[in-house]
Amino acid sequence: TEPVKIAVLGCGTVGTQVIRLLLDQSQDLAARIGAPVELAGVYVRDTSTPRDAVVPASALTSDAEALVDAADVVVELMGGQEPAKSLILRALARGAAVVTANKALLATHGAELYEAADAAGADLYYEAAVAGAIPLVRPVRESLAGDRVTRILGIVNGTTNYVLDEMTSKGLDYDAVVAEAQRLGYAEADPTADVGGHDAAAKAAILASLAFHQRVALDDVYCEGIEAITQDDIQAARETDRVIKLLAVAEQVEDGVSVRVHPTLVPVEHPLANVRGAFNAVFVEAEAAGELMFYGQGAGGAPTASAVLGDVVSVARHKVGGGKGPLESNYALHEVLPMDAA
Ligand code: NAP
Ligand code: HSE
Repeated sequence: TEPVKIAVLGCGTVGTQVIRLLLDQSQDLAARIGAPVELAGVYVRDTSTPRDAVVPASALTSDAEALVDAADVVVELMGGQEPAKSLILRALARGAAVVTANKALLATHGAELYEAADAAGADLYYEAAVAGAIPLVRPVRESLAGDRVTRILGIVNGTTNYVLDEMTSKGLDYDAVVAEAQRLGYAEADPTADVGGHDAAAKAAILASLAFHQRVALDDVYCEGIEAITQDDIQAARETDRVIKLLAVAEQVEDGVSVRVHPTLVPVEHPLANVRGAFNAVFVEAEAAGELMFYGQGAGGAPTASAVLGDVVSVARHKVGGGKGPLESNYALHEVLPMDAA
């Protein structure tokens, strides 16, 4: 059987762990996919920069376009807008499947990428873009596609939860904890995306688009971060048996959809108050399903790599056995016909 050729773009916190899992588990992955998997190459800015020992030096390349053109599956883990967007569009245009963890890109240029995927009949998967290891995109996009989601509420940024938790439980200083979140690989390359609430807002936009079947972009999300939270605020919350959490809320309202991210006072007995460290927890409410809760590690190299690899297996199975994931374009644009008119 022909191998499925996998290109990895970016070799940082997440990329390194994806490469490790891909190589360590290649036999198991081949059995699950029905064909061998081959690491076609790893795109980096500078091939002479020292890398983790799990990354084969022979796989490194600075020729992204040649690598994309040689791959069946392109895994984008660079982050940022460009060259990530152009490389994803290039991959999709030639029918390669794309897996990405890039919520910032999806929340700003998602519509263009989704349309390109649909036009090419190619898969675009992004489980790792929301809530790290937690399976959340697939349940909202697929498992709940026959239900009516009414509200999504929760903690979707690991860095800010870690910072608020360390400040609350250990009384630590804000700047020191943010630096530690960076060292642990939780924070974005520019951590202002985390502490400013923009990373959570991007995730909320992605979830709201999937849940409510209409395009919600980053600009549509009200966003307030945690930069202004002080030990005095944390202490004042404690005195009234509450903790401060950065929450994302997306809900169906009378005249549309409301999506927002802001610090919130959560009563200590609420499950969200007890989400520690870089964990995330998200409640999804749907008309028929009722309330669902998703919980797990929301950031970090290995947890995020787990979600990426799950997507790699799904799209590689399609390459080998046929089939494709759900259409990506705006469902709301499709006319809804009465049942008896079909
Ligand atoms: P990172 O540690 O900063 O790694 C990014 C990698 O991409 C680095 O190897 C960097 O190269 C490379 N890169 C960036 N721009 C490039 C360019 N123009 N050309 C070539 N290579 C480039 O980031 P990360 O934490 O792994 O995150 C990667 C993606 O996953 C981001 O979209 C992030 O939002 C997302 N994500 C991260 C986490 C997490 O917990 N870290 C969780 C979920 C999703 P150099 O090595 O040369 O710097
Ligand atoms: N910086 C992000 C966070 C990574 O802290 O949640 C996971 O998306």
